[in-house]
Amino acid sequence: MWGGRFSASPAEIMEEINASIGFDKRLAPQDIRASKAHAAMLADAGIIDAADAKAIIKGLDDVAAEIEGGKLQFSRALEDVHMNVESRLKEVIGTPAGRLHTARSRNDQVATDFKLYIRDRLDALDEALAVLQFAFVRKAEAHAGTIMPGFTHLQPAQPVTFGHHLLAYVEMLGRDRGRLADARARLNECPLGSAALAGTSFPIDRQATAKALGFDKPTDNSLDGVSDRDFVLETLAAASICAVHLSRFAEEVVLWSTPQFGFIKLSDKFTTGSSIMPQKRNPDAAELTRAKVGRIAGAFQSLLIVMKGLPLAYSKDMQEDKEVAFDALDSLGLAVAATAGMVDDMQPQADTMLAAAGSGYSTATDLADWLVRVLKMPFRDAHHVTGRIVAAAEAEKLPLDKLSLAAMQAVEPRISADVFSVLSPENSVASRVSHGGTAPQNVAKMAAAWRKRLEKT
Ligand code: ARG
Repeated sequence: MWGGRFSASPAEIMEEINASIGFDKRLAPQDIRASKAHAAMLADAGIIDAADAKAIIKGLDDVAAEIEGGKLQFSRALEDVHMNVESRLKEVIGTPAGRLHTARSRNDQVATDFKLYIRDRLDALDEALAVLQFAFVRKAEAHAGTIMPGFTHLQPAQPVTFGHHLLAYVEMLGRDRGRLADARARLNECPLGSAALAGTSFPIDRQATAKALGFDKPTDNSLDGVSDRDFVLETLAAASICAVHLSRFAEEVVLWSTPQFGFIKLSDKFTTGSSIMPQKRNPDAAELTRAKVGRIAGAFQSLLIVMKGLPLAYSKDMQEDKEVAFDALDSLGLAVAATAGMVDDMQPQADTMLAAAGSGYSTATDLADWLVRVLKMPFRDAHHVTGRIVAAAEAEKLPLDKLSLAAMQAVEPRISADVFSVLSPENSVASRVSHGGTAPQNVAKMAAAWRKRLEKT
């Protein structure tokens, strides 16, 4: 492509480090789409003949079909997807192919292609996340009143409902979708026509190409147009946060499905056995989902470091943006889909959860609240009295609601039998009706509200 000034071929190792076709061939559909828009615009602006543009566009469609059919042999000597496509176009249509690269450079070409690609992936990801939210909502609806222990410090804290716990993830995923949507909105400006870095002397119509490719507008600064990779960084940052959320749920699936917890069962569809230990049922999909955040957050770090300190405008360093982003988006897509599968698959073990919710003195706060409400004790005093009652129950190895009234009265004589009405996990969760609280009626309402929102989109 630049034979004019060169007389020798690159060193073998130069070709190897320089080539990106091994991975950027993924951008072929976007590259061809952008080239078709560019060619049409060049003709409309009178920069090339309509007949040439027609030949180029038809030829690009043929090349696209070849690539889709796996028939095009990519060449490493041609470096990247852009030159592979153009070179094949030349073979297919001859001379007019040489006019396609008028008023553009690979620098604005790659920025445009990659934006189109990221945009497609963001759209697919948004849909997949909505599917996952729906899976959580369905389970939450079915388990609005299923009681489990809520934890802080992974120590039993207060009883909560399983539906409430699941809806917490629906909230997180809602914010994730918001962040990805923000990234999409901000990236939607078209760099095509920025050319190498300075713009072009040809009378191109950047509004037209931007519009044809579904962008809101052309980018306003040609230097920024070719050197911006914020759109990848922002996508990877949002993807990392989303992967963190998935990893937290995955960790809970791993814990909950142990015999020690026994809160959920996963079917054969989402577990694997061991080649040596016949009793095993391992939650591999959850473990791998927990792990994927490593490569996703790693991709974000990787590109952040590549971009740090890069002078304007384009530098070849930026070619390193693609592999990590591809891997991160693939990994996130897998993790989201696997999580949706696990949410559907998991069977909550209501009896085990309820029994666990009643252990660990998790209704101690309810006892303290009763002392405040009925005996008008200051909360700090009530906390102290409750602590002594818990200690008494612990000494007798009894749960709170099985401790005798006499034993409680030994600590605080004014306690009456009415106290037992607040000591069960059922009463505890039923009382948590504050906005955003865990009461079954709240959960049913929130799940219904989410269902409505999700059905709309
Ligand atoms: N393969 C290159 C990349 O991904 C395309 C841009 C090349 N531009 C250049 N001036 N060599 O970044």
